[in-house]
Amino acid sequence: MNRILIFLLSCAAVAVTLRARAASVDADGTGTPKITGLKCEYATDPIGLDVRSPQLSWRMEADGRGVLQSAYRIVVATSEDDLAQDKGIWDSGFCPSSRSSGIRYEGPALESRTPYFWKVQVRCADGRLTEWSDAAGFETGLMDESDWLSDWIAYAPGSPGRVLYFKATHVDARPVAKARLYIAGLGFYEMSINGRKVGNHVLDPAQSTYNRRVYYSTYDVKEYLATENVLLVAVAPGWYGMPKLRMQLEITHPDGQRTILTAGHMRAVTTGPTVHSTIFDGELYDARLDVPDLRAPYVPAGLMNKEWSLAHIADAPGGKMTAQKMEAIEVVDSLVPQLLGEPAPGVYVFDTKQNLAGWAALRVRGERGRTVTMKFAESLYGNGLVNQENLRNAKATDTYICKGEGVETWEPKFTYHGFRYIQVEGLPQAPAEGDIRVRIVRNAVAETGSFRCSDELLNRIHKMVKATEASNLHSVPTDCPQRDERMGWLNDMTVRIEQALYNFDLSRFYPKFIADVSDTQDEAGTITCVAPYRFGARPADPVSASYLLLAWKTYEFYGNAGVIEEHYDGMKAWVDYLASRTDDGIVDYSYYGDWSPPTAFAVDSTSAVSRDTPGRMMSTGYLYYCASILSEMAALTGRDEDRARYRELAERTAEAFDRTYWNEEAGGYAANNQAANSFALFLGLVGEDRIDRVVGNLADDVAAHDYHLTTGNLCTKYLMEMLTRYGHAETAYRIATQKTYPSWGYMLENGATTLWERWEYATGDAMNSHNHPMMGSVDSWFYKYLLGIVPDIAHPGFERFTIRPYIVGDLRFAEGEFRSIKGPIRSAWRKEKGSLALDVSIPAGSVATVYVPTTRPGSVTESGRRIGKSETIRLLGQDGDWAVYEVGSGDYRFRSEWKK
Ligand code: BGC
Repeated sequence: MNRILIFLLSCAAVAVTLRARAASVDADGTGTPKITGLKCEYATDPIGLDVRSPQLSWRMEADGRGVLQSAYRIVVATSEDDLAQDKGIWDSGFCPSSRSSGIRYEGPALESRTPYFWKVQVRCADGRLTEWSDAAGFETGLMDESDWLSDWIAYAPGSPGRVLYFKATHVDARPVAKARLYIAGLGFYEMSINGRKVGNHVLDPAQSTYNRRVYYSTYDVKEYLATENVLLVAVAPGWYGMPKLRMQLEITHPDGQRTILTAGHMRAVTTGPTVHSTIFDGELYDARLDVPDLRAPYVPAGLMNKEWSLAHIADAPGGKMTAQKMEAIEVVDSLVPQLLGEPAPGVYVFDTKQNLAGWAALRVRGERGRTVTMKFAESLYGNGLVNQENLRNAKATDTYICKGEGVETWEPKFTYHGFRYIQVEGLPQAPAEGDIRVRIVRNAVAETGSFRCSDELLNRIHKMVKATEASNLHSVPTDCPQRDERMGWLNDMTVRIEQALYNFDLSRFYPKFIADVSDTQDEAGTITCVAPYRFGARPADPVSASYLLLAWKTYEFYGNAGVIEEHYDGMKAWVDYLASRTDDGIVDYSYYGDWSPPTAFAVDSTSAVSRDTPGRMMSTGYLYYCASILSEMAALTGRDEDRARYRELAERTAEAFDRTYWNEEAGGYAANNQAANSFALFLGLVGEDRIDRVVGNLADDVAAHDYHLTTGNLCTKYLMEMLTRYGHAETAYRIATQKTYPSWGYMLENGATTLWERWEYATGDAMNSHNHPMMGSVDSWFYKYLLGIVPDIAHPGFERFTIRPYIVGDLRFAEGEFRSIKGPIRSAWRKEKGSLALDVSIPAGSVATVYVPTTRPGSVTESGRRIGKSETIRLLGQDGDWAVYEVGSGDYRFRSEWKK
């Protein structure tokens, strides 16, 4: 232990000198680096932005090694011509900085509905100046409430779960220079212009606490417009309840004149063919009720008849109109499921082969009135029919009633399901290939991570975790996509954040979700178990450290300090609330704690509360954790008083934790079980003199359970990480590669394609989702320990990071990539005869501390050469089985002796 500590201290000292000597790991590059990947608020050329001082970011691309940025210059202009001539409304001048993300625009106030253009130039640490980047753009939306000229409209028959269709016709022969649509149809809307769907968002806008915040989307609709236009907006209840619409279509003509159409123009309304639409139950669409003139270029003269009526001006939902900045939900993929068979006459069951979230599209030729139903489920009964028991109250059924006019195609628009199997009933004949197609639906965030190794089981676990996260991105990080829940549970998020961040670009998704959490907060500082608050309790379980962690990790991964600044007061109020709920330093409540351990370790067979891991211990530990993070956030944002105050709170809490839960006789915490000991180690609450005992007990306990875990959703993460960090990587590896209960391999052996909520296999009417990310922290263990890619919060946005692979078990190789905001980071190692090959890629603008595994420190070479002095690699020291180097950007091929 001491050896590691001394090593770390010397590393810290080296890191300090390195800042000064940055140029020494710089510049054997060929060709000047290029500036690419310009983003504003983490989006490429966004329109409809409402941020007053948006954050800018870019990347450097370079062929050579050791490229670092030493200064940047940004110019922002209101025209491309001005930008080309460097005439901006804001010129940052050269700012000495190695940062390339989270850089605030600091020019004059931005105006609504205005396009801006910007570019960046960088000075490298070796003095070279890059070319200017290509121009990028952003356009503001409706920044102020006063920009909204539109009322909200609604119509009473929308209330029993029906979809409303609002329609207008607009005739104008003048040419169009620019057209923007700003729209918020609550719960969900879909707009079409002249029969063509506007954009590709589905289940839009993002859900929110509607009386605090309402998201609107902005579209460029110039190409949709003709002289004669039919505007149609379908609005469904979604998460809101009763459909309501606000929209503004702003058409600018070449002479500068503007035509603005608002919801007030869209008051012709009909209930149309969607008889009901709810998220949990599904949709019922009666094609016979299709309104004949729905898409025709006129509004029927006689409104207030059987079909058409007049929408009324409605009360506003109450929340602040906010531009939707995260990636929308989209149909990201389609597939044709396999027909499994006909388990009962006329009942067909399809298998997608993968548990997922989305819906199915139907193609049918049936007589008028024929009813076809599609039922969605995660599992089947022995008789081959779908088992919907674990969906609890969700009907998850879509129904289509035929019009009887040839081949009809239909798919729902305002619901989604979590499923692997679809049971189709009512078809006139056996389905042909392609009659059922599956749409996969989630927020269209980019994938950022890949992982592969020589053990196929681990590859399958990785795929399973990634698929689970992908199924649970529906404008909040949901707990599951299938049953009557689908909520952003903050307890789960406390451990999910990292596994999701390695796999997907959540630079916009997480700031949105933090805002959801903040919107639940009351004056006492309490937040709620789920955000938006539709389930669970107020105050949230104290294990909901995710409020702070979401902001902290968003900063760490993307260099976004804005989220910390924006939510600092809220996070502080939550920590203060928790502190107010302590009794002699111990937090006095807990609901879930280390939730859902294997049932033998729960209070009883029907419960998911841990028997051995005290809930209040978890609550208190998280108070310590949150107070520590808050203290660091205070330091970061220049709040010195708070820094000291929360440090002190953390110390007091640590002392209470120790006093209450340390068990001297046993040499562990509380019941000396896996959860308690790994949690205390993770928090850094175990004193030097106790570490060996605690770690020893932890490892022995795992061995005593035949290398199986006894932990729930939270401590599983800490168990794997602490075993690895404290010298028992082999034990962690054995847990990861188990195939018997309880383990991830056991899930796979029992047919899982996404993670279960329980370690047990269960399909009945209870809490047993089969698509539940909370048990997936093993995937961040793959990235952090097998690939070894770990960010450094002292240098956020991957300006500095570590690559420290652990060579474990019988693994012959592991390889993968994480596409960081600086560019792709790669780590790939392979055992060769007596030696080990480690290939790494460090993006331009970054410096990495690379731990090269070796059993003989002097044996390390790079690209076939011994590592000399003048290169972009510097030896920092030796730490156990690793030779540690500081490495500048570029691709490297390390080889070393490895005799294990
Ligand atoms: C959710 C879980 C959550 C739990 C807490 C469940 O209903 O699905 O994800 O951890 O509630 O009680």
